[in-house]
Amino acid sequence: MIEKDFIPEMAGTLPETGTISWQAPSNIALVKYWGKRPGQLPTNPSVSFTLDTSATRTTLKYRSVSAPSQVPVFRIYLDGVAAPHFAAKISTFFERICVYQPFLGAYEFEIRTENTFPHSSGIASSASGMAALSLCLMDLERAIYPDLKEDLFKKKASFLARLGSGSAARSIEGGLVEWGNHASVPGSSDLYGIPYPFEVHPVFSSFQDTILLVDKGKKQVSSTVGHGLMQGHPFANSRFEQARQHLDGLQPILREGDLPAFISLVESEALSLHAMMMSSNPYFVLMKPGTLEIINRIWEYRKDTGTPICFTLDAGANVHLLYPEENKEAVGAFVNEELVSFCQDGQYLQDHVGPGALRL
Ligand code: PMV
Repeated sequence: MIEKDFIPEMAGTLPETGTISWQAPSNIALVKYWGKRPGQLPTNPSVSFTLDTSATRTTLKYRSVSAPSQVPVFRIYLDGVAAPHFAAKISTFFERICVYQPFLGAYEFEIRTENTFPHSSGIASSASGMAALSLCLMDLERAIYPDLKEDLFKKKASFLARLGSGSAARSIEGGLVEWGNHASVPGSSDLYGIPYPFEVHPVFSSFQDTILLVDKGKKQVSSTVGHGLMQGHPFANSRFEQARQHLDGLQPILREGDLPAFISLVESEALSLHAMMMSSNPYFVLMKPGTLEIINRIWEYRKDTGTPICFTLDAGANVHLLYPEENKEAVGAFVNEELVSFCQDGQYLQDHVGPGALRL
């Protein structure tokens, strides 16, 4: 599909008022997206686990207005409290998507959103937040065009979410989701995420993610700035090529449940992502001392016990600990004994691979 396929052509009937609620999950990338081209298009393909309990719930109330405008008027609330600091981000989002949803200007919206993970946990809510809002907007589109097919609904929800925050494209479907055009991944596209189209060993369907909250504060460098710094980065092309190779390398690993190979590929991705940050101009470091302490403890624990756990990182100091469900109890004890002391306020979140977004 190309961009123009997402512009509705039929005439529809606009409902006057309505309320829609969706829950969309967060995701954690195994092969990372870092670097983008104009139009929120990724410079390399990526793949992620969809999470389950870390999610955003959004309720959209719409009401048609007598004098339509180009971009809709809206009010936004986070946890029941007016959140004007989100307004600029949502306005930009509406500006980007109104060509694909030309009916938006005919409405005013009230957007109420809440995250299931604690406020200011340092966990990015933009992926789940943009995905939940996009799903609500797609539901409105379906009310206008009732013939809208389920496949297009999901693809377009991911397409819209991508225009809000790149990695949000991977927060619609469940399990493993791939985003970004790649010759060896059938159906892949830079425009939207797709369910990972290859055989996956059952060990990965219930994989655990313990999110160790090393630093709950706001990041010093935003993802937007970080992506931008990949332009003209001395290692950019090698990095994009590495990500493509990792994506291909993951295919037999995921099929066979090859945990040692999974561990080495996933940790290499996490450290390559941070290596890009440390070698940008200007350079920056998002890991904290606690991040490195945790990484070293994980390596020691793995060496001593043979437990197949590994870490990954997103664009921040927090550590995602990934491991099979059968190791949950043992890893839980290890986390409490050795890792909690490096978490801010001793906080961590327990999550696992989940089924994707849900209409409420
Ligand atoms: O979606 P953004 O612009 O916040 O970028 C996310 C980038 C990483 O989390 C570091 C990697 C990824 O693929 O999710």
